[in-house]
Amino acid sequence: MNVLGIETSCDETAAAVVKDGREILSSVVRTQFDLHGRFGGVVPELASRRHVEVIVPVVEEALGRAGLSLTGVDVLAVTQGPGLMGALLVGLNLAKALSLVLEKPLVGVNHLEAHLAAGLLTDDRCGFPQAALVVSGGHTNLYLVAGPLEARLLGQTRDDAAGEAFDKAAKLLGLGYPGGVAIDELSARGDARRFGLPRPMLGQGLDFSFSGLKTALAHLVANEWQGREVAGQDLADLAASFQEAVVDVLAGKVRALLKEVEVKGLLLAGGVAANRVLRRRMTALAAEEGLPLILPPVSLCTDNAAMVAAAGFHVFRTGRTLDLSADAYSRVRPDGDSRGLG
Ligand code: KG4
Ligand code: ZN
Repeated sequence: MNVLGIETSCDETAAAVVKDGREILSSVVRTQFDLHGRFGGVVPELASRRHVEVIVPVVEEALGRAGLSLTGVDVLAVTQGPGLMGALLVGLNLAKALSLVLEKPLVGVNHLEAHLAAGLLTDDRCGFPQAALVVSGGHTNLYLVAGPLEARLLGQTRDDAAGEAFDKAAKLLGLGYPGGVAIDELSARGDARRFGLPRPMLGQGLDFSFSGLKTALAHLVANEWQGREVAGQDLADLAASFQEAVVDVLAGKVRALLKEVEVKGLLLAGGVAANRVLRRRMTALAAEEGLPLILPPVSLCTDNAAMVAAAGFHVFRTGRTLDLSADAYSRVRPDGDSRGLG
């Protein structure tokens, strides 16, 4: 069964074809970094307009690379939420149109379920339950995953998400957008122990808080540099110290989760899972705990449509198809699902 996945929830326009929920036949991602870079963050209206411009060529390219025509698509899967409303509607409306014309079923995918499905594409033999950390620009969630589409939220951020913290810190340090990648790269030549920054809420349950860390960085810069430009080794050391604080908290919370649950494996997903230090730390942690780590390749961590198609395959198997009246949702799933997946 070929599922065509479409993802336009934020600033990536993506389409992919996945066979039987596990074999990626193609995956095309167009980022919008060029568009939002000078604003230091995503401008929703610009994101929507760019999605409108590129979504059809992106879908055509995904089909072409999979060696399929539209008639070879069995199911359409689209990100329904959470995300930017205008951006989501571009993907949803195209998916509805294709479903109508092709007379093929349409399923709506929750963006967080999609991030979790990157794990299914990476390793479908590990077995369940799994402990999962999904860290993205909008979410920092700890889950106990009992199976595909069966994630229970056990911890989340009370304010900023980890990716948001990276992006805000990068903006403060003048590193551009997207901030996570810039901090990751710069940190490689920085001293992570030079500056003492807080580890918010570490040792206090499974929830996160990152807004205070960002403020602590802002105070440190204001006090030490007093308006002068931060540059060179200082900049690298600040980036590395900030990253270390975020990673310490993320890894510490995963360790705390593993004390509370019995699992067969550990999954790391979401855009921040691309971070090299976090990947190394989680690899070490899993080894220490004697657990297999499901670590999707970076291309499956940052937003993409292969994960949407993979999750869509499982949604279709539950029979939950959408009709043409379906709407996107920016935050919470309209059915009031409280698992924290929307
Ligand atoms: O999952 P994603 O692509 O989009 C959302 O669903 O939000 O995650 C984007 C987030 C951004 O905040 C970006 O700065 C962060 O992931 N990110 C990283 C890295 N690559 C992307 N953060 C830290 N290190 C990275 N290498
Ligand atoms: Zn995402």
